[in-house]
Amino acid sequence: MGPFSIVSRLFLDFGILCWDILLTLSNLVRRKRRIGHVTPEGHPGYGKHWPEYSPPKETDSRCSCPALNAMANHGIIPRSGRNISFVEVGDHIRTTYNFSPTFCSFVPRFAARMLKKNYSADLFDLEELDLHNGIEHDGSLLRLDSALEQTQSTKHVPFIEELLAAATGKDKKDNTVITTKDLSRILGKRRAVARAVNKEFSQLFP
Ligand code: HEM
Ligand SMILES: *[C@@H]1O[C@H](CO)[C@@H](O)[C@H](O)[C@H]1NC(C)=O
Ligand SMILES: *[C@@H]1O[C@H](CO)[C@@H](O)[C@H](O)[C@H]1NC(C)=O
Repeated sequence: MGPFSIVSRLFLDFGILCWDILLTLSNLVRRKRRIGHVTPEGHPGYGKHWPEYSPPKETDSRCSCPALNAMANHGIIPRSGRNISFVEVGDHIRTTYNFSPTFCSFVPRFAARMLKKNYSADLFDLEELDLHNGIEHDGSLLRLDSALEQTQSTKHVPFIEELLAAATGKDKKDNTVITTKDLSRILGKRRAVARAVNKEFSQLFP
């Protein structure tokens, strides 16, 4: 990577960080969207009308990210999980999950950089995101480590059941909900177990 692209990258990351700080501050005074009125008009999910779920076909591409797989399973991004635009996936994450425009710009840019692709021009298949220690890492909540499993796009049902069973929170309607403490506890356990059972275990970030 040349010095110019390092400098332009720093400016880009710094710009997104500033934008994010401004959004965080403005959220202190802006009114929250009402429950049931979060999805913008004209987008999948508006009025609680989500495009139909259908499970992936053998030839479809899926990845280790449950959020992106769900969008493909509902046809919000191509059901094939292939030839996806970095720019468009960001837009769809924003309208589908009500994520900040900063996340929706930064993460696809990060993914493009990780795959050595052009954010504005290139396309990707979901499975490409499984590049080990790019974003995908050992000790995940819902998946076996890549050294222990053929493909990261397969969910590990016992992990999912354990996570759901570990939920200790209650919402206003007395539904059981997963709290951040629950997530943290289970993730701690996942990492400790992965470290013990996977000879190739690595953890880039603390
Ligand atoms: C373009 C944007 C995104 C990219 C490139 C991306 C990529 C990834 C990747 C590679 C993983 C696997 C990490 C691991 O090894 O655990 C992952 C996990 C995850 N992602 Fe995403 N993701 C994106 C957006 C989102 C969004 C919008 C959400 C939430 C609505 C989300 C929720 C999750 C969760 C909960 C996991 C953890 C799954 C687990 O530990 O098994 N992601 N993502
Ligand atoms: C994706 O793009 C490649 C190259 O342009 C093409 O060969 C392939 O048929 C496309 N796949 C899908 C599912 O659109
Ligand atoms: C990425 O693609 C855009 C649009 O085609 C082009 O203008 C830009 O120069 C490309 N960037 C790089 C680094 O190749």
